[in-house]
Amino acid sequence: MATKTLSTKLLERIGNTPLIELKSYSNKVKVFAKLEWYNPFGSVKDRAAYWMIKDAEKKGILKKGQSIIIEPTSGNTGIALTGIAKLMGYDVEIVIPEKVSSETKMILGNLGAKLYETTDDLCPRVGVGTDQSIALARAISSARPQIYFMPNQYENEANYRAHYESTGPEVWEQTNGKVTHFFAGAGTGGTITGVSSFLKEKNPSIKAVAVQPQKQHLIQGLRNFEESDMPPLFKKRKELADDWYTITNDESFKATKELFEKEKLLVGPSSGCVMAAALKEVGKLNGGVVVVTFADDGRKFRSLYTNQNVFTDSEFDRALKEARMLTELPFDSIG
Ligand SMILES: Cc1ncc(COP(=O)(O)O)c(C=O)c1O
Repeated sequence: MATKTLSTKLLERIGNTPLIELKSYSNKVKVFAKLEWYNPFGSVKDRAAYWMIKDAEKKGILKKGQSIIIEPTSGNTGIALTGIAKLMGYDVEIVIPEKVSSETKMILGNLGAKLYETTDDLCPRVGVGTDQSIALARAISSARPQIYFMPNQYENEANYRAHYESTGPEVWEQTNGKVTHFFAGAGTGGTITGVSSFLKEKNPSIKAVAVQPQKQHLIQGLRNFEESDMPPLFKKRKELADDWYTITNDESFKATKELFEKEKLLVGPSSGCVMAAALKEVGKLNGGVVVVTFADDGRKFRSLYTNQNVFTDSEFDRALKEARMLTELPFDSIG
């Protein structure tokens, strides 16, 4: 039997991430976290990236050794697309807002992406005239359409389908159908709409809750929809979010720190944001099974966390040593 290549092994590790109970938060309401940093390139975005590339291959859009994938992204989608596309034989160019953490940019460079920086806010904005990253990626790709493919996670149905076909079924199976509430941060809306759609087919009373950060936030990967238009992918299914929470930077960081203190989990800031919202909801419930999405771990965020006084440098070093359930990643520039 042929032995599997490293590429195949990494690609096979997309999805099927662990769901763990957060025992120090569970009481009459059980609280579980879906640890999306177990994906091979370290975030929930591996799912969307893989599905978008496979979809383009199926449609005959991509040609190995010739095509270049270009995408505007604030980090995780770029890391996922670069890592996965390289394994599958494509080059990648990323258009990235300059405020994205230096660790993220370094990872992208290490993985072999060509980077274009813009002065956009933390996330590329979808509204016309405020979307430099999106506009620049469009301009580069439309000049040479035979070479460039822009997956455009903000409109690509394969992003939604990734979660309808993988994350949703996993949450259902891992809770033995007992999930009552599902929480996810809102970026493109792929996670919340895809998972909600699947879970509601199984049990229409399951509540899907979208979490957005405050205006002028510091939460990489998420967006506030009062200051940024809702991406088309999200807009057309926005009724799949039954409820919304808006969480401040301070609340997000407090929950991030507390997750380390109570659970020894070193999470990314969007996980803290989602956790803060879930805890508000849990306070109103008498029972149930709440699932929160932890989109990435905290290792890329040393500079953010020390600048915002979430952790001092030495606390962060200690957290790196003591944190449980961190995985080995195929890039070594973090920590
Ligand atoms: C860290 C993080 N959390 C959450 C999200 C939101 O996921 P989605 O785009 O599926 O709404 C993203 C998206 O980039 C992210 O990077």
